[in-house]
Amino acid sequence: MSQNRKKIVTDFNQLPKIFNRHFAEMKNAGHSITALTAYDYPTAKLVDHAGVELILVGDSLRMVVQGKSTTLGVTLEEMIYHCKMVSEASSRAMVCLDMPFLSYQVNQDEAVYNAGRSLTEGGAGSVKIEGACGELIARLVETGIPVLAHLGFTPQSYHQFGGYGIIGKNLARAEQLVEEAIAVEQAGAYAVVLECIPDEVAGTITKLLTIPTIGIGSGPHCNGQILVFHDIFGLYPHLPKHVKVYQDLGKLILEGVEKYIGEVRQAKFPSAGNYYKLEPDVLREWKKLHPDD
Ligand code: KIV
Repeated sequence: MSQNRKKIVTDFNQLPKIFNRHFAEMKNAGHSITALTAYDYPTAKLVDHAGVELILVGDSLRMVVQGKSTTLGVTLEEMIYHCKMVSEASSRAMVCLDMPFLSYQVNQDEAVYNAGRSLTEGGAGSVKIEGACGELIARLVETGIPVLAHLGFTPQSYHQFGGYGIIGKNLARAEQLVEEAIAVEQAGAYAVVLECIPDEVAGTITKLLTIPTIGIGSGPHCNGQILVFHDIFGLYPHLPKHVKVYQDLGKLILEGVEKYIGEVRQAKFPSAGNYYKLEPDVLREWKKLHPDD
């Protein structure tokens, strides 16, 4: 083998479209994976244009869009509805539909059908499922449905966990997380979200796996990071420690709305450039009809 053989380095920022196979390639190349949630067309358009590799139509929409206190209760129909808008807007990023609670736990046939609808109707390129469901992941992948796994704090198990918290703080649970991560990789997941697990455990899992780990509240050793759009733009009031607000759009929107209200009340809006006038010949006739106006 020639020693001069050049290492082929793919510039992942130049990829026109991201598929499941690119995730392991990005990990290999040391390219940090970026992911955000989006639930509608204009947001997805911006997030895709900015260059994230993955857009998750998260069931977190139940909280940040629908205003509920957990992710439980959002329906597959609602997820597909939002996913259609996101898929329409995203030309490059992998769009992943987050399978809602009870859409994949009841039986595998139903899970395959529902996940299939996420692709055919929702336009997604993959689905995310929570928990160490190795058998189901293998079945979905065999059907042709790429799967993003999700381990650690899995919000659909909120009641089972007894609230929000960090998973894997004791040795036994941390070891179990490692085994679960290996199992979802072996089942064929293209990447795994690690939510709220200790940094050291996430680091070990990241080293052991060939597929990338995408962390949320799981430290810097993951191969990528995912956050909820509304959290990082100040559009959701309850923020856990692992969230960083990048722009306070909530404050900007509030100021904008207050300014609008003020201008309407002070008759500053609409001004000449913001409304329409009759053409002079029509206006002459109009004045004949309405001389006192
Ligand atoms: O629903 C969601 O937004 C998620 C991410 C937080 C990973 O599952």
